[in-house]
Amino acid sequence: MVLGKAEQMEAEQRAYPAALRRTVLVANQKGGVGKSSITSAVAGMVARAADSSAGISERRVLIVDADPQGNATFSDLGVQGDKGRSFMTTLQYGEPLEVVRDVRPGLDLIAGGPMLAQVGGLTATAANSGIDVVANLMNGLAAVCAELNPFLVLIDSGPGDAPLLDALLRIARFLIVPTRDDDASLSGVELLALRYLRARQASPIELLGVVLFDVNPRATARNAQVIADLDALLDGSGATAFPTMIRSDRAAALDLRAAHLLPGELVEATRNAGKERLARLRRNGRHRVASGPDDLDVRLWSRDPAPLANDYQDLAKELLRRIAAAEQNGSPV
Ligand SMILES: Nc1ncnc2c1ncn2[C@@H]1O[C@H](COP(=O)(O)OP(=O)(O)O)[C@@H](O)[C@H]1O
Ligand SMILES: [Mg+2]
Repeated sequence: MVLGKAEQMEAEQRAYPAALRRTVLVANQKGGVGKSSITSAVAGMVARAADSSAGISERRVLIVDADPQGNATFSDLGVQGDKGRSFMTTLQYGEPLEVVRDVRPGLDLIAGGPMLAQVGGLTATAANSGIDVVANLMNGLAAVCAELNPFLVLIDSGPGDAPLLDALLRIARFLIVPTRDDDASLSGVELLALRYLRARQASPIELLGVVLFDVNPRATARNAQVIADLDALLDGSGATAFPTMIRSDRAAALDLRAAHLLPGELVEATRNAGKERLARLRRNGRHRVASGPDDLDVRLWSRDPAPLANDYQDLAKELLRRIAAAEQNGSPV
């Protein structure tokens, strides 16, 4: 049977796998805007909520690291992984995706890394070689989701890797866009908005909002202005900026990556480091100076990472609220 263009598009939409209904792509072609940090931190917050509160049933979270830099895999989670090999094999040959289970309680990972840098070359020849990157990824991820049944899937993406980004925009159900408040990052939002509108013609993807990253929470007038600008930029997309912003905290940012901790874990680590310092002072007498916690292999620079961790927690809640609202509004899936 030969389908007309409109029918074809309809068939594609109908074929969208229900297993992918909770996939959220975190994207902005601009680098350094918090994509990986937000992916890892929000995933950790949602999985952690499941772990600590008995009331919530299983809330497993899956992180898909679709970035050749692999910051979420290597730096944030401290996982070696397979450098993106399995991911790449899935894109190329439609082989099953490998999952690294339980990188944290309730948290699974599809590892990223330098092998993913080959995607550009792959898609350049895909039309001739008959490789369908979108179908391969969609089927591979749907199979993983059908098996693990995650409550939430967060997909981290790299800067500027246009072919992979376009594939991700075709398979993800939702999109969030992090940005800093400088002009270059904001124009990254604008570029992505255009890509998003194009992807929407063939995919059910829905923009949930923009997240301001690395902001001074005390600059309230400035932040309100940026939010207003963003909302104007998003006008017509149906989305608005998230009211929760991720505050600047360079000391915490250093610690998170050097020690491969998620924000909630850093809060605990600094608390424990404080307790250990006290205990050592008591043991050694008041006049001796403690030399820092020697059972941590990295020195922690942050004093109080709790406000940053709270930002991520608020963002996680807001994200789940927006997903729930979109699902209620008669989603196309
Ligand atoms: N709260 C924060 N304040 C300031 N800098 C941060 C904060 N969180 C992370 N960073 C730093 O910002 C940089 C970019 O973050 P990253 O999440 O890697 O962005 P992207 O994935 O978009 O490239 C990293 O060097 C990271 O350590
Ligand atoms: Mg990144």
